[in-house]
Amino acid sequence: MSVHLEVIKQHLIDPEICIRCNTCEETCPVGAITHDGKNYVVNAELCNLCMACVSPCPTGAIDNWRQIRKDDAYSVDEQYTWEELPKQTTIATSVEQGEAAPKTDEGGGTDGVEGGIEVDTVLGSTLPPWSAARPYVNIYTHKAPITATVVGNYRLTAETSESDVHHIVLDFGQMPFPVLEGQSIAVLPPGATAEGRAHHARQYSIASARDGERRGYNNLSLTVKRVVSDAQGQARGGVCSNYLCDLKKGDTVQVIGPFGSSFLMPNHPNSHLLMICTGTGSAPMRAMTEYRRRRRLKGATGKLMLFFGARTREELPYFGPLMNLPKDFIDVNLAFSRTQGQPKKYVQDLMRERAEEVAGMLRDENTYIYVCGLKGMEEGVLQALADIANQSGQPWEPLWKKLKQLGRLHLETY
Ligand code: A2P
Repeated sequence: MSVHLEVIKQHLIDPEICIRCNTCEETCPVGAITHDGKNYVVNAELCNLCMACVSPCPTGAIDNWRQIRKDDAYSVDEQYTWEELPKQTTIATSVEQGEAAPKTDEGGGTDGVEGGIEVDTVLGSTLPPWSAARPYVNIYTHKAPITATVVGNYRLTAETSESDVHHIVLDFGQMPFPVLEGQSIAVLPPGATAEGRAHHARQYSIASARDGERRGYNNLSLTVKRVVSDAQGQARGGVCSNYLCDLKKGDTVQVIGPFGSSFLMPNHPNSHLLMICTGTGSAPMRAMTEYRRRRRLKGATGKLMLFFGARTREELPYFGPLMNLPKDFIDVNLAFSRTQGQPKKYVQDLMRERAEEVAGMLRDENTYIYVCGLKGMEEGVLQALADIANQSGQPWEPLWKKLKQLGRLHLETY
């Protein structure tokens, strides 16, 4: 007699590809994904293979599976130590000696894992608008990055302001690097950690339109804030942001990507953009706005409405150019939280002040909503949208569900 042992399909994250963007941990509806300073890992006891995290992952690092005996499942602590994924091994499902063990697939893959993406487990859409252009993703990887040349690096925030935000332009020369507004890239900072490991890649949203920071050129721009303290407020320089902000014209940078296949803009000309952002979360909004501005003469009639939050006017990236955009092209609403002598304003406060216009946009099925910036704003913004919708006779729950399903609500917070 043989005792049959249970075999599971264990969900794992590839530490060589993962760019530590935290998307999976935020998306997981059952709290199965956690991280330490090194790796993102999946707890096999909690993971129910719902697949909610798979589509939002920008790199595909999340899409790894190993068949393994349940008792032998890789523990969270073991996964924290990995430099690379273990190979799929041949497993025996019976303890009886001499019995032929079944062969399993090499490499894993998602085959055999049932179920689609459960839209209701995530706050925003996991699919792009129907009219979005088809993105290229993962063309360049950790193992085969592309070299870009810095052709511009400008400080965006006033010299007097504490916040040092840079506009950095990277050129790809003759190498193909096709991108869309809303996509991101990752930069591999040079050097190594105190433990001698190569720094992992850091992800940045693209701030320029698909046809180049300079139209017709093979370049793109990033909006990078110099990180000078950690989450607890202790002085600590961010490895990649300091590297990028200190780059000079002519320096080269190792880049991977592009990433992102859902936070993309609609391309039908009568589509409206409702954009809500804080700080460097303005990067994708700048990209979309600029693309719309370039296309404007070719019959695009859709409305653009922007809610943009910063501590002060001096700290708001792109303040000057924003204020120069024609009022009939974009409705700009700026929320300043630390202007002396003025009440603290957040983007969600301004949305409520403009409730009638926001409600009008929500009512139009050609409206697409984009939220990018501080994690903390997500709740406040969704609550404002819910209140505005409900108060204008549009019940939020069904509307929210529809917005998600139709690729019309996109959230990217960090
Ligand atoms: P605050 O002055 O309270 O920090 P940062 O400069 O840190 O990137 O932040 C950008 C803006 O987002 C600031 O005005 C900041 O205000 C604001 N902010 C902070 N928390 C929230 C939140 N929960 N919702 C909306 N805006 C927020």
